Amino acid sequence: MDKLIITGGARLSGELRISGAKNAALPILAATLLSHSPVTVGNVPHLHDITTTLELLGRMGVHLLVDERMNIEIDSSKISSFVAPYELVKTMRASILVLGPLLARFGEAHVSLPGGCAIGTRPVDIHLNGLIKMGAEITLENGFIHAKAKRLKGCRLVLEQVTVTGTENLLMAAVLAEGTTIMENAAKEPEVSDLAHFLNKMGAKITGIGTDVLVIEGVEKLGEESIHYNIMPDRIETGTYLCAAAITGGKVKLKNTRPDILDAVLDKLIEAGADIQTGEDWISLDMHGKRPKAVSLRTAPYPAFPTDMQAQFIAMNTVADGVGVVIETIFENRFMHVNELQRMGADIRLESNTAICTGTKKLTGAPVMATDLRASASLVIAALIAEGDTLVDRIYHIDRGYDHIEEKLTQLGATIRRVPN
Ligand code: EPU
Repeated sequence: MDKLIITGGARLSGELRISGAKNAALPILAATLLSHSPVTVGNVPHLHDITTTLELLGRMGVHLLVDERMNIEIDSSKISSFVAPYELVKTMRASILVLGPLLARFGEAHVSLPGGCAIGTRPVDIHLNGLIKMGAEITLENGFIHAKAKRLKGCRLVLEQVTVTGTENLLMAAVLAEGTTIMENAAKEPEVSDLAHFLNKMGAKITGIGTDVLVIEGVEKLGEESIHYNIMPDRIETGTYLCAAAITGGKVKLKNTRPDILDAVLDKLIEAGADIQTGEDWISLDMHGKRPKAVSLRTAPYPAFPTDMQAQFIAMNTVADGVGVVIETIFENRFMHVNELQRMGADIRLESNTAICTGTKKLTGAPVMATDLRASASLVIAALIAEGDTLVDRIYHIDRGYDHIEEKLTQLGATIRRVPN
Protein backbone atom coordinates (compact mmCIF):
# COMPACT_ATOMS: atom_id res chain seq x y z
CA MET A 1 0.00 0.00 0.00
CA ASP A 2 1.46 3.37 -1.00
CA LYS A 3 2.05 6.12 1.54
CA LEU A 4 2.54 9.85 1.23
CA ILE A 5 5.31 11.66 3.07
CA ILE A 6 4.73 15.37 3.43
CA THR A 7 7.21 17.83 4.90
CA GLY A 8 5.33 20.80 6.25
CA GLY A 9 6.26 24.44 6.05
CA ALA A 10 6.11 25.44 2.39
CA ARG A 11 3.77 28.32 1.54
CA LEU A 12 1.75 27.17 -1.49
CA SER A 13 1.77 29.38 -4.54
CA GLY A 14 1.13 29.00 -8.26
CA GLU A 15 -1.53 27.85 -10.68
CA LEU A 16 -3.40 24.58 -11.08
CA ARG A 17 -5.89 23.06 -13.48
CA ILE A 18 -8.87 21.47 -11.79
CA SER A 19 -9.98 18.03 -13.01
CA GLY A 20 -13.43 16.81 -13.97
CA ALA A 21 -15.83 16.09 -11.11
CA LYS A 22 -15.72 12.54 -9.74
CA ASN A 23 -19.31 12.72 -8.51
CA ALA A 24 -20.58 13.85 -11.91
CA ALA A 25 -18.44 11.39 -13.88
CA LEU A 26 -19.68 8.35 -11.91
CA PRO A 27 -23.42 8.79 -12.64
CA ILE A 28 -22.73 9.92 -16.22
CA LEU A 29 -20.67 6.80 -16.92
CA ALA A 30 -23.51 4.71 -15.46
CA ALA A 31 -26.02 6.63 -17.60
CA THR A 32 -24.22 5.59 -20.78
CA LEU A 33 -25.95 2.22 -20.20
CA LEU A 34 -29.11 3.96 -21.42
CA SER A 35 -27.74 4.82 -24.85
CA HIS A 36 -28.29 2.89 -28.07
CA SER A 37 -25.35 4.61 -29.80
CA PRO A 38 -21.76 5.04 -28.61
CA VAL A 39 -21.11 8.07 -26.40
CA THR A 40 -17.83 9.89 -25.75
CA VAL A 41 -17.23 11.46 -22.38
CA GLY A 42 -14.44 14.03 -21.92
CA ASN A 43 -12.79 15.75 -18.95
CA VAL A 44 -13.00 12.47 -17.03
CA PRO A 45 -10.73 12.60 -13.97
CA HIS A 46 -7.96 10.05 -13.61
CA LEU A 47 -9.17 8.29 -10.47
CA HIS A 48 -9.48 4.88 -8.98
CA ASP A 49 -13.28 5.16 -8.70
CA ILE A 50 -13.43 5.83 -12.45
CA THR A 51 -11.34 2.71 -13.13
CA THR A 52 -13.72 0.72 -10.92
CA THR A 53 -16.73 2.05 -12.85
CA LEU A 54 -15.10 1.18 -16.17
CA GLU A 55 -14.36 -2.30 -14.87
CA LEU A 56 -17.99 -2.64 -13.82
CA LEU A 57 -19.24 -1.57 -17.26
CA GLY A 58 -16.67 -3.80 -18.95
CA ARG A 59 -17.88 -6.83 -16.99
CA MET A 60 -21.39 -6.14 -18.29
CA GLY A 61 -20.10 -6.41 -21.83
CA VAL A 62 -19.93 -2.68 -22.57
CA HIS A 63 -17.23 -1.75 -25.12
CA LEU A 64 -14.83 0.89 -23.85
CA LEU A 65 -12.08 2.83 -25.51
CA VAL A 66 -9.98 5.16 -23.37
CA ASP A 67 -7.45 7.54 -24.92
CA GLU A 68 -4.42 9.06 -23.20
CA ARG A 69 -6.38 12.25 -22.36
CA MET A 70 -9.13 10.27 -20.59
CA ASN A 71 -11.71 10.77 -23.33
CA ILE A 72 -13.74 7.62 -23.05
CA GLU A 73 -15.82 6.13 -25.83
CA ILE A 74 -18.52 3.90 -24.44
CA ASP A 75 -20.67 1.59 -26.48
CA SER A 76 -23.53 0.03 -24.53
CA SER A 77 -25.61 -0.90 -27.56
CA LYS A 78 -25.38 -4.54 -26.46
CA ILE A 79 -24.57 -5.88 -23.03
CA SER A 80 -24.17 -9.41 -21.78
CA SER A 81 -24.74 -9.16 -18.03
CA PHE A 82 -26.95 -7.20 -15.65
CA VAL A 83 -24.85 -7.89 -12.57
CA ALA A 84 -22.88 -5.49 -10.35
CA PRO A 85 -20.83 -7.94 -8.27
CA TYR A 86 -20.01 -7.60 -4.58
CA GLU A 87 -16.26 -7.33 -5.08
CA LEU A 88 -16.71 -4.10 -7.05
CA VAL A 89 -19.64 -2.63 -5.12
CA LYS A 90 -17.86 -3.10 -1.79
CA THR A 91 -14.96 -0.92 -2.97
CA MET A 92 -17.25 1.77 -4.39
CA ARG A 93 -20.78 2.41 -3.15
CA ALA A 94 -21.52 4.51 -6.23
CA SER A 95 -21.80 1.21 -8.18
CA ILE A 96 -25.44 1.35 -7.05
CA LEU A 97 -25.84 3.93 -9.84
CA VAL A 98 -26.12 1.17 -12.46
CA LEU A 99 -29.38 -0.04 -10.90
CA GLY A 100 -31.67 2.64 -12.40
CA PRO A 101 -30.28 2.57 -15.96
CA LEU A 102 -30.06 -1.25 -16.19
CA LEU A 103 -33.61 -1.65 -15.01
CA ALA A 104 -34.98 1.11 -17.25
CA ARG A 105 -33.31 -0.07 -20.43
CA PHE A 106 -33.03 -3.85 -20.02
CA GLY A 107 -35.81 -4.54 -17.49
CA GLU A 108 -33.43 -6.37 -15.16
CA ALA A 109 -30.63 -5.63 -12.69
CA HIS A 110 -28.76 -7.57 -10.01
CA VAL A 111 -26.72 -5.22 -7.87
CA SER A 112 -24.91 -6.18 -4.71
CA LEU A 113 -26.15 -4.27 -1.65
CA PRO A 114 -23.54 -1.68 -0.70
CA GLY A 115 -23.87 -2.19 3.07
CA GLY A 116 -22.23 0.11 5.60
CA CYS A 117 -19.24 2.28 4.91
CA ALA A 118 -16.69 4.24 6.87
CA ILE A 119 -18.71 7.46 7.00
CA GLY A 120 -21.99 5.94 8.14
CA THR A 121 -24.69 3.38 7.39
CA ARG A 122 -25.80 5.01 4.11
CA PRO A 123 -28.89 2.94 3.23
CA VAL A 124 -30.42 2.80 -0.27
CA ASP A 125 -34.08 2.54 0.77
CA ILE A 126 -35.04 5.75 -1.05
CA HIS A 127 -33.56 4.43 -4.33
CA LEU A 128 -35.50 1.16 -3.95
CA ASN A 129 -38.81 2.64 -2.80
CA GLY A 130 -38.78 5.03 -5.76
CA LEU A 131 -38.22 2.19 -8.22
CA ILE A 132 -40.97 0.12 -6.59
CA LYS A 133 -43.32 3.08 -6.95
CA MET A 134 -42.44 3.16 -10.66
CA GLY A 135 -43.54 -0.47 -10.94
CA ALA A 136 -40.33 -2.43 -10.35
CA GLU A 137 -40.38 -5.77 -8.57
CA ILE A 138 -37.54 -5.80 -6.08
CA THR A 139 -36.27 -8.65 -3.94
CA LEU A 140 -33.28 -8.74 -1.64
CA GLU A 141 -31.50 -12.07 -1.57
CA ASN A 142 -28.01 -13.22 -0.65
CA GLY A 143 -26.84 -9.63 -0.29
CA PHE A 144 -28.11 -8.67 -3.74
CA ILE A 145 -30.83 -6.36 -4.99
CA HIS A 146 -32.72 -8.18 -7.74
CA ALA A 147 -34.88 -5.79 -9.75
CA LYS A 148 -37.25 -6.51 -12.61
CA ALA A 149 -39.73 -4.45 -14.58
CA LYS A 150 -41.38 -4.66 -18.01
CA ARG A 151 -41.44 -0.91 -18.54
CA LEU A 152 -41.28 1.45 -15.60
CA LYS A 153 -44.19 3.83 -15.18
CA GLY A 154 -43.89 7.54 -14.53
CA CYS A 155 -45.36 8.67 -11.21
CA ARG A 156 -45.06 11.29 -8.48
CA LEU A 157 -42.10 10.67 -6.20
CA VAL A 158 -41.58 12.65 -3.01
CA LEU A 159 -38.13 11.76 -1.70
CA GLU A 160 -38.14 11.29 2.05
CA GLN A 161 -34.70 12.86 2.40
CA VAL A 162 -32.40 14.70 0.02
CA THR A 163 -30.18 12.04 -1.53
CA VAL A 164 -27.70 12.70 -4.31
CA THR A 165 -27.22 9.21 -5.79
CA GLY A 166 -30.87 8.39 -4.96
CA THR A 167 -32.03 11.32 -7.10
CA GLU A 168 -29.61 10.27 -9.85
CA ASN A 169 -30.70 6.63 -9.86
CA LEU A 170 -34.38 7.54 -10.04
CA LEU A 171 -33.73 10.17 -12.69
CA MET A 172 -31.95 7.59 -14.87
CA ALA A 173 -34.84 5.19 -14.35
CA ALA A 174 -37.53 7.79 -15.13
CA VAL A 175 -36.09 8.95 -18.46
CA LEU A 176 -37.21 5.73 -20.15
CA ALA A 177 -40.42 5.24 -18.14
CA GLU A 178 -43.86 5.40 -19.68
CA GLY A 179 -45.39 8.78 -18.90
CA THR A 180 -44.25 11.62 -16.70
CA THR A 181 -42.40 11.41 -13.40
CA ILE A 182 -42.44 14.33 -11.00
CA MET A 183 -39.66 14.05 -8.44
CA GLU A 184 -40.03 16.31 -5.42
CA ASN A 185 -37.37 17.03 -2.80
CA ALA A 186 -34.78 16.06 -5.40
CA ALA A 187 -31.11 16.80 -4.68
CA LYS A 188 -29.98 20.10 -6.26
CA GLU A 189 -26.27 19.29 -6.25
CA PRO A 190 -24.58 20.58 -9.44
CA GLU A 191 -23.49 17.00 -10.23
CA VAL A 192 -27.18 15.98 -10.44
CA SER A 193 -27.70 18.84 -12.91
CA ASP A 194 -24.67 17.73 -14.95
CA LEU A 195 -26.19 14.25 -15.21
CA ALA A 196 -29.56 15.73 -16.23
CA HIS A 197 -27.92 17.83 -18.97
CA PHE A 198 -26.10 14.73 -20.21
CA LEU A 199 -29.36 12.76 -20.30
CA ASN A 200 -31.11 15.56 -22.17
CA LYS A 201 -28.27 15.62 -24.69
CA MET A 202 -28.98 11.92 -25.30
CA GLY A 203 -32.65 12.74 -25.94
CA ALA A 204 -34.24 12.72 -22.47
CA LYS A 205 -36.90 15.27 -21.54
CA ILE A 206 -36.04 16.64 -18.12
CA THR A 207 -37.09 20.06 -16.87
CA GLY A 208 -36.64 21.76 -13.51
CA ILE A 209 -32.88 21.06 -13.62
CA GLY A 210 -31.14 22.73 -10.67
CA THR A 211 -34.36 22.90 -8.61
CA ASP A 212 -35.77 20.41 -6.13
CA VAL A 213 -38.63 19.43 -8.45
CA LEU A 214 -37.51 17.47 -11.49
CA VAL A 215 -40.10 16.74 -14.16
CA ILE A 216 -39.20 13.86 -16.44
CA GLU A 217 -41.27 13.04 -19.47
CA GLY A 218 -40.35 9.45 -20.36
CA VAL A 219 -39.14 8.68 -23.89
CA GLU A 220 -38.92 5.29 -25.65
CA LYS A 221 -35.28 5.37 -26.56
CA LEU A 222 -32.14 7.34 -25.75
CA GLY A 223 -29.02 7.87 -27.82
CA GLU A 224 -30.42 7.72 -31.35
CA GLU A 225 -27.10 9.24 -32.39
CA SER A 226 -23.61 9.47 -30.89
CA ILE A 227 -22.86 12.42 -28.63
CA HIS A 228 -19.84 13.90 -26.86
CA TYR A 229 -20.14 15.34 -23.35
CA ASN A 230 -17.56 17.04 -21.13
CA ILE A 231 -17.82 16.45 -17.38
CA MET A 232 -18.14 19.58 -15.20
CA PRO A 233 -15.19 20.67 -12.99
CA ASP A 234 -14.77 19.16 -9.54
CA ARG A 235 -15.97 21.67 -6.93
CA ILE A 236 -14.67 19.57 -4.04
CA GLU A 237 -11.19 19.25 -5.56
CA THR A 238 -11.30 23.02 -6.06
CA GLY A 239 -12.28 23.65 -2.43
CA THR A 240 -9.63 21.22 -1.19
CA TYR A 241 -6.78 23.07 -2.97
CA LEU A 242 -8.15 26.41 -1.76
CA CYS A 243 -8.01 25.13 1.85
CA ALA A 244 -4.53 23.72 1.25
CA ALA A 245 -3.33 27.12 0.09
CA ALA A 246 -5.17 28.97 2.86
CA ILE A 247 -3.68 26.90 5.69
CA THR A 248 -0.16 27.72 4.46
CA GLY A 249 -0.90 31.46 4.11
CA GLY A 250 -0.40 31.00 0.37
CA LYS A 251 -1.57 32.39 -2.93
CA VAL A 252 -3.00 30.23 -5.74
CA LYS A 253 -5.05 30.46 -8.89
CA LEU A 254 -7.21 27.50 -9.87
CA LYS A 255 -8.26 27.24 -13.49
CA ASN A 256 -10.91 25.18 -15.32
CA THR A 257 -13.24 25.41 -12.38
CA ARG A 258 -16.61 27.04 -11.57
CA PRO A 259 -16.91 29.68 -8.85
CA ASP A 260 -20.69 29.86 -9.36
CA ILE A 261 -21.18 26.49 -7.64
CA LEU A 262 -18.87 27.18 -4.69
CA ASP A 263 -20.60 30.10 -2.97
CA ALA A 264 -20.90 28.51 0.48
CA VAL A 265 -17.24 27.41 0.46
CA LEU A 266 -15.89 30.71 -0.87
CA ASP A 267 -17.91 32.65 1.73
CA LYS A 268 -16.29 30.61 4.51
CA LEU A 269 -12.82 31.13 3.05
CA ILE A 270 -13.44 34.88 2.96
CA GLU A 271 -14.55 34.67 6.59
CA ALA A 272 -11.25 32.88 7.29
CA GLY A 273 -9.42 35.91 5.93
CA ALA A 274 -8.81 34.90 2.31
CA ASP A 275 -8.80 37.43 -0.46
CA ILE A 276 -10.84 35.65 -3.16
CA GLN A 277 -11.11 36.77 -6.78
CA THR A 278 -13.10 34.94 -9.43
CA GLY A 279 -13.61 34.87 -13.19
CA GLU A 280 -15.95 32.73 -15.22
CA ASP A 281 -13.76 29.62 -14.93
CA TRP A 282 -11.11 30.49 -12.36
CA ILE A 283 -10.71 31.29 -8.66
CA SER A 284 -7.73 32.86 -6.97
CA LEU A 285 -7.01 32.93 -3.26
CA ASP A 286 -4.47 35.07 -1.45
CA MET A 287 -3.93 34.86 2.31
CA HIS A 288 -1.22 37.54 2.17
CA GLY A 289 0.87 35.27 4.39
CA LYS A 290 -1.64 35.46 7.27
CA ARG A 291 -2.82 32.69 9.58
CA PRO A 292 -6.49 31.80 8.87
CA LYS A 293 -9.25 32.84 11.28
CA ALA A 294 -11.37 30.00 12.70
CA VAL A 295 -14.75 29.54 11.03
CA SER A 296 -17.93 27.85 12.20
CA LEU A 297 -20.13 25.99 9.77
CA ARG A 298 -22.92 23.48 9.37
CA THR A 299 -23.07 20.98 6.51
CA ALA A 300 -26.32 20.59 4.56
CA PRO A 301 -27.46 19.71 1.03
CA TYR A 302 -26.51 22.08 -1.83
CA PRO A 303 -26.47 25.07 -2.02
CA ALA A 304 -25.46 25.05 1.67
CA PHE A 305 -22.00 24.03 2.86
CA PRO A 306 -21.02 20.57 1.47
CA THR A 307 -20.26 17.67 3.79
CA ASP A 308 -17.45 16.78 1.37
CA MET A 309 -15.59 19.96 2.47
CA GLN A 310 -16.11 19.56 6.23
CA ALA A 311 -12.89 17.65 6.98
CA GLN A 312 -10.73 20.11 5.03
CA PHE A 313 -12.16 23.07 7.00
CA ILE A 314 -11.59 21.25 10.29
CA ALA A 315 -7.93 20.86 9.25
CA MET A 316 -7.78 24.60 8.61
CA ASN A 317 -9.45 25.37 11.94
CA THR A 318 -6.83 23.34 13.82
CA VAL A 319 -4.23 26.08 13.24
CA ALA A 320 -6.59 29.04 12.88
CA ASP A 321 -6.95 31.98 15.19
CA GLY A 322 -9.95 31.34 17.48
CA VAL A 323 -12.55 28.62 17.95
CA GLY A 324 -14.54 27.06 15.09
CA VAL A 325 -17.65 24.96 15.64
CA VAL A 326 -18.36 22.49 12.85
CA ILE A 327 -21.70 20.68 12.72
CA GLU A 328 -22.10 17.64 10.43
CA THR A 329 -25.74 17.01 9.51
CA ILE A 330 -25.47 14.59 6.55
CA PHE A 331 -23.44 11.60 7.73
CA GLU A 332 -23.39 10.30 11.30
CA ASN A 333 -19.78 9.12 11.37
CA ARG A 334 -17.82 11.62 9.38
CA PHE A 335 -15.31 12.76 12.00
CA MET A 336 -12.71 10.03 11.66
CA HIS A 337 -10.06 12.57 10.73
CA VAL A 338 -10.44 14.14 14.18
CA ASN A 339 -8.52 11.39 16.01
CA GLU A 340 -5.71 11.54 13.50
CA LEU A 341 -5.54 15.35 13.63
CA GLN A 342 -5.37 15.13 17.43
CA ARG A 343 -2.29 12.93 17.00
CA MET A 344 -0.70 15.86 15.17
CA GLY A 345 -1.45 18.16 18.10
CA ALA A 346 -4.89 19.52 17.16
CA ASP A 347 -7.25 20.66 19.92
CA ILE A 348 -10.66 19.31 18.86
CA ARG A 349 -13.52 18.27 21.11
CA LEU A 350 -16.28 16.08 19.70
CA GLU A 351 -19.84 16.30 20.99
CA SER A 352 -22.03 13.96 18.91
CA ASN A 353 -22.28 15.63 15.47
CA THR A 354 -20.30 18.72 16.49
CA ALA A 355 -16.55 19.30 16.42
CA ILE A 356 -15.27 22.23 18.45
CA CYS A 357 -11.82 23.19 17.21
CA THR A 358 -9.57 25.56 19.11
CA GLY A 359 -6.77 26.72 16.87
CA THR A 360 -3.23 26.04 18.02
CA LYS A 361 -0.19 27.81 16.60
CA LYS A 362 1.58 24.59 15.71
CA LEU A 363 0.89 21.04 14.51
CA THR A 364 3.61 18.42 14.46
CA GLY A 365 4.16 15.75 11.82
CA ALA A 366 3.13 12.20 12.79
CA PRO A 367 2.28 8.89 11.15
CA VAL A 368 -1.44 9.08 10.40
CA MET A 369 -4.00 6.88 8.70
CA ALA A 370 -6.39 7.85 5.93
CA THR A 371 -9.88 6.51 6.71
CA ASP A 372 -12.05 7.85 3.91
CA LEU A 373 -11.57 10.10 0.95
CA ARG A 374 -12.19 13.55 2.42
CA ALA A 375 -10.69 12.62 5.80
CA SER A 376 -7.51 11.77 3.91
CA ALA A 377 -7.52 15.15 2.20
CA SER A 378 -7.77 16.85 5.58
CA LEU A 379 -4.69 14.97 6.82
CA VAL A 380 -2.71 16.07 3.78
CA ILE A 381 -3.81 19.67 4.34
CA ALA A 382 -2.80 19.55 8.01
CA ALA A 383 0.54 17.97 7.07
CA LEU A 384 1.33 20.97 4.84
CA ILE A 385 1.57 23.21 7.91
CA ALA A 386 2.86 20.67 10.46
CA GLU A 387 6.41 20.84 11.72
CA GLY A 388 8.46 17.97 10.28
CA ASP A 389 7.30 14.95 8.30
CA THR A 390 3.82 13.45 8.23
CA LEU A 391 3.40 9.98 6.86
CA VAL A 392 -0.11 9.38 5.54
CA ASP A 393 -0.90 5.68 5.29
CA ARG A 394 -3.73 3.95 3.36
CA ILE A 395 -3.75 6.57 0.66
CA TYR A 396 -5.80 4.39 -1.68
CA HIS A 397 -8.66 6.44 -0.26
CA ILE A 398 -7.10 9.60 -1.73
CA ASP A 399 -6.50 7.94 -5.09
CA ARG A 400 -10.22 7.18 -5.28
CA GLY A 401 -11.04 10.87 -5.56
CA TYR A 402 -8.02 13.16 -6.12
CA ASP A 403 -6.44 13.21 -9.55
CA HIS A 404 -2.60 13.23 -9.25
CA ILE A 405 -2.64 14.88 -5.83
CA GLU A 406 1.09 14.75 -5.19
CA GLU A 407 1.94 16.16 -8.65
CA LYS A 408 -0.57 18.97 -8.18
CA LEU A 409 0.67 19.87 -4.69
CA THR A 410 4.30 19.69 -5.87
CA GLN A 411 3.35 22.09 -8.65
CA LEU A 412 2.23 24.52 -5.93
CA GLY A 413 5.53 24.15 -4.06
CA ALA A 414 4.66 21.52 -1.43
CA THR A 415 7.19 18.92 -0.37
CA ILE A 416 5.35 15.65 -0.88
CA ARG A 417 6.31 12.25 -2.19
CA ARG A 418 4.69 8.88 -2.63
CA VAL A 419 6.47 5.85 -1.29
CA PRO A 420 5.48 2.29 -2.08
CA ASN A 421 5.07 0.01 0.88
N1 EPU B 1 -29.92 8.21 2.72
C1 EPU B 1 -30.92 7.39 3.19
N2 EPU B 1 -31.52 6.53 2.30
C2 EPU B 1 -31.18 6.45 0.99
C3 EPU B 1 -30.17 7.30 0.53
C4 EPU B 1 -29.56 8.18 1.41
O1 EPU B 1 -31.25 7.41 4.37
O2 EPU B 1 -31.77 5.65 0.26
C5 EPU B 1 -29.25 9.15 3.66
C6 EPU B 1 -27.76 8.84 3.82
O3 EPU B 1 -27.53 7.84 4.78
C7 EPU B 1 -27.23 10.20 4.23
C8 EPU B 1 -28.11 11.18 3.46
O4 EPU B 1 -29.27 10.44 3.07
O5 EPU B 1 -27.40 10.40 5.61
C9 EPU B 1 -27.49 11.78 2.24
O6 EPU B 1 -26.81 10.81 1.50
P1 EPU B 1 -26.75 10.81 -0.08
O7 EPU B 1 -27.58 9.71 -0.59
O8 EPU B 1 -27.01 12.19 -0.60
O9 EPU B 1 -25.22 10.44 -0.33
P2 EPU B 1 -24.68 9.61 -1.52
O10 EPU B 1 -25.52 9.86 -2.70
O11 EPU B 1 -24.43 8.21 -1.09
C10 EPU B 1 -23.16 11.49 -2.53
C11 EPU B 1 -21.70 11.64 -2.85
C12 EPU B 1 -20.92 11.77 -1.55
C13 EPU B 1 -21.44 12.99 -0.80
C14 EPU B 1 -22.96 12.86 -0.57
C15 EPU B 1 -23.58 14.09 0.08
C16 EPU B 1 -21.47 10.47 -4.94
C17 EPU B 1 -20.94 9.30 -5.69
N3 EPU B 1 -21.26 10.49 -3.63
O12 EPU B 1 -23.27 10.30 -1.76
O13 EPU B 1 -19.56 11.96 -1.90
O14 EPU B 1 -20.79 13.10 0.44
O15 EPU B 1 -23.62 12.64 -1.83
O16 EPU B 1 -23.36 15.21 -0.69
O17 EPU B 1 -22.04 11.37 -5.53
C18 EPU B 1 -17.24 11.87 -1.60
O18 EPU B 1 -17.10 12.27 -2.78
O19 EPU B 1 -16.28 11.81 -0.79
C19 EPU B 1 -18.55 11.45 -1.13
C20 EPU B 1 -18.73 10.71 -0.04
